[in-house]
Amino acid sequence: MDWGLQNRMHRMFSTASTNTVMLAVDHGYFMGPTRRLENARATITPLLPHTDALALTRGILRHAVDPTVTTPIVLRVSGGATVLKEDLSHEALTTSMEDAVRLNANAVAMSVFVGAPHEHESLVHLSELVDQGEEYGIPVMAITAVGKELEKRDARYLALACRVSAEIGAHLVKTYYCEDFGKVVEGCPVPLVVAGGPKLDSERAALELARNAIDEGAHGIDMGRNIWQSDHPVAMLKALRAIVHERATVREALEILTTEKAHSASRAPAATA
Ligand code: R5P
Repeated sequence: MDWGLQNRMHRMFSTASTNTVMLAVDHGYFMGPTRRLENARATITPLLPHTDALALTRGILRHAVDPTVTTPIVLRVSGGATVLKEDLSHEALTTSMEDAVRLNANAVAMSVFVGAPHEHESLVHLSELVDQGEEYGIPVMAITAVGKELEKRDARYLALACRVSAEIGAHLVKTYYCEDFGKVVEGCPVPLVVAGGPKLDSERAALELARNAIDEGAHGIDMGRNIWQSDHPVAMLKALRAIVHERATVREALEILTTEKAHSASRAPAATA
């Protein structure tokens, strides 16, 4: 691995814990103005000081994040389908590596759709992106997307999707937590981070997901809705940080959450969506 690529990888992870807390705010690229991400700048700004890396598209980066920000950027560079279509796998690379460099991206990210109608295209796009990433020294994060088929999130499927992504050359893989997650970790030679998925029923459930993922070998989280759709997003992020970086128990994280809630302003109750 070239020095620049190694350096950019290192900047996203804590040296002490070897883990990362990424904030995912890239949902709009196929979901539009997702609930509580309608005003991206208002959502992102208070969370940035508690975030190790920020995952988003170039449009939201340019419009919602000040160029003075030093948080490493994980730039989503795939797209081309929206929730209005049945087949979300019909994606291509939508941002050039040159623009990623212009934006000072620390890493680039794209979805891979293993087993979906456009599996072949997404895997070939991943190989092209890895070639470009190696050329420019920019790590590539593969995202094992399941489209609308959330039930696909089991260890057998995710282990296959993560391994295939790593074999093609992804330097980092984002996937979902699942039962027997250890098997996914075991078969994947590069670091894994986990997404949260749709907002869970309770804060405890989201903290448990993070704790279990770390216990079973994830190198962090790349979480969105379970943070910024919370009534107390900063408190939630701080509680998750304690789990990811200090191996706090769920009980300890819930205590942090309670304490932080008392100090942080609550968001206005959101309409359901
Ligand atoms: C899909 O929109 C993106 O890959 C998200 O970044 C990913 O799903 C993580 O966000 P969440 O925790 O909300 O699932």
